[in-house]
Amino acid sequence: MEWKELQSQCMACTRCGLCQTRHHVVFGVGNPDADVMFIGEGPGEQEDLRGEPFVGPAGMLLDDMLSIIDLDRKTNCYIANIVKCRPPHNRDPEEAEQEACIGYLRSQVALVNPKIIVCLGRIAAKRLIDRDFRITRQHGQWIQKDGIWMMAIYHPSALLRDVGKRPETFDDLISLREKIRQLGARV
Ligand code: URA
Repeated sequence: MEWKELQSQCMACTRCGLCQTRHHVVFGVGNPDADVMFIGEGPGEQEDLRGEPFVGPAGMLLDDMLSIIDLDRKTNCYIANIVKCRPPHNRDPEEAEQEACIGYLRSQVALVNPKIIVCLGRIAAKRLIDRDFRITRQHGQWIQKDGIWMMAIYHPSALLRDVGKRPETFDDLISLREKIRQLGARV
């Protein structure tokens, strides 16, 4: 499927109940040819209002984290979420909502064809890396799945709540920079 078709299908989606309360579908942002993809959980309030992922407080922190390793949301990475519509009151997206939405993300991954996927937080890691993923124990660990290198880092919202987790995340970002270099990924 092509980008335009995928995006217009997603924009008109009514596959789960989240479509009833959304203001915008939050499809994704970035370079569709990027070698590095970041996957969050789902839109929050600001994202729902503006139609772009990670534009609220957590997103501002994410932009700072990316800039540490010379990444930028518009030019050299692609950012999307597991679910494209905001769960009310920012609750975790339900299993059925994730299931209804995951096909869009799979198509995005197929089109971007990244060398590296970084899961932002527990929900994305559980969905994409391992059902039993434990973010406290397994963040920063690399695995290769279907030819794509994957790891998870703490969600930027968790880093806003608990600054004590930031040094570990800094190490994970340095590890990401190393992986980008090792693979000769375009940034
Ligand atoms: N949190 C997410 O997981 N995704 C967003 O787009 C914003 C906040």
